Amino acid sequence: IMANIPVIMRVLAASVRIADKSALLVREIMSSRDLGIVDKVCGGQKNLQTKADTAVEKLIRASLLAEFPQLNVIGEEDEKLDLTADAKAGSDDQVLRMACPPACANLSQEEIVVWVDPLDGTADNFPLYSPPPNLPPFISGLLDHVTILIGLAVNGEAVGGVINQPFYNYQSGPQANLGRTIWGLVGLGAFGWNRAEPPVGRRILITTRSHSNELVNLCLDSIYSPDLCPTPTKKTMTGTKGLALRVIEGEADAYVFASPGCKKWDTCAPEAILRAVGGNLTDVHGKKINYHKDVKFPNTGGVIATYRDHQTIIDLVPQKVRDNL
Ligand SMILES: *[C@@H]1O[C@H](CO)[C@@H](O)[C@H](O)[C@H]1NC(C)=O
Ligand SMILES: *[C@@H]1O[C@H](CO)[C@@H](O)[C@H](O)[C@H]1NC(C)=O
Repeated sequence: IMANIPVIMRVLAASVRIADKSALLVREIMSSRDLGIVDKVCGGQKNLQTKADTAVEKLIRASLLAEFPQLNVIGEEDEKLDLTADAKAGSDDQVLRMACPPACANLSQEEIVVWVDPLDGTADNFPLYSPPPNLPPFISGLLDHVTILIGLAVNGEAVGGVINQPFYNYQSGPQANLGRTIWGLVGLGAFGWNRAEPPVGRRILITTRSHSNELVNLCLDSIYSPDLCPTPTKKTMTGTKGLALRVIEGEADAYVFASPGCKKWDTCAPEAILRAVGGNLTDVHGKKINYHKDVKFPNTGGVIATYRDHQTIIDLVPQKVRDNL
C-alpha cells in the first residue's frame, strides 16, 4: 500500500512522526535534573543547548535516512550517524490519507531537500529562564517559542513543512498535555491548529528580540504606519526565530527580520506552511529564498513573512534597510 503513496507524502508523514519523537527527547533532555539549571552561567546553558541540538538532529537525520536513504538532509549539526533500522519512526496516518497535490505526485527522494532545525529558539530564551518551583528546570519564559523545524524543498522551493512545539501548552500547568505539531504542503493546505483568518487591514508586526538592532527598528517603524491601516494596529517586539509561527497562526500579520542572522533551516518549514495557507515568506527585497541543496546557509537578505498583503509590506521596507541587506 505504501508503495502507491507518493514519496513526498510518505516523507511528510514520516517527518510528522519524527518531529513528535524528537519533541519527547527535547522534553526529556530539558527537564533532566542532571543537566539542570544549577549551572546558571551562560556557558553551562549553552552547552546544554548544544547537547540537545545534537541529539535531536541525529534523531531526525537517522530516522529520515533509515527510511529514505536518497533524501538530501541538511542541518546545523553535521555529525557522523549510526544508521540503524530501529531509527524508523513510522508514518502519520492523517498525512497518508490526504490526496497528494498533482505537482508533487511524481517526485523521487533525490529531488527532495530536507532542511532541519533541531531546536530553534532555545538560546534566545536562555536569559529569560527562571523556573517556577513546580516545573522542571527549563520550563518557563517563552518556552512555547521553542520549535523543531523540518522543511521539505523541491526545485529550490519550500513546499512542505513540519513545526513541532515541544512545550506548547506549558502555561496550563504541570498536568497539561505538552506539545503540538503543525504541518503543511503547498497545494494541499496546513493542519494541526485552529485556523482563524486575521482581520483585513490589521498590522501586528513582530520581530526577534535578540537580534533587534537599529535597522530592524527602522524597518518596523516604517511598516508600522497608522495612516496605512483602516483599523487600530499594534507593534509587538518579542521572542525568537520561531515567531513566523505567530503569523501562521494569525496572531501577527508580519514577521520582520531585517538582519542577516538566520539560516535556510529556520525558514524552510515556516515558509512552506505559510504558502500552504496563502501567505508568503521572502527576503526583505521580496525575493524568493532558494532552498536548493547547494546554496549557502544564511538568509543574507533578511526575512519577511506575511499572512497576506506581502507585496504591500515589502514595499514599505525603507531604502536604508534594503541597502544594508
Ligand atoms: C506522474 O506519472 C504518471 C505515470 O508515469 C503520469 O501518468 C502522470 O501524468 C505524472 N504526473 C505528473 C504531474 O507529472
Ligand atoms: C511570494 O513571493 C514571491 C516573490 O515575490 C512571488 O513570486 C510569489 O508569487 C508569492 N507567492 C504568493 C502565494 O503570494
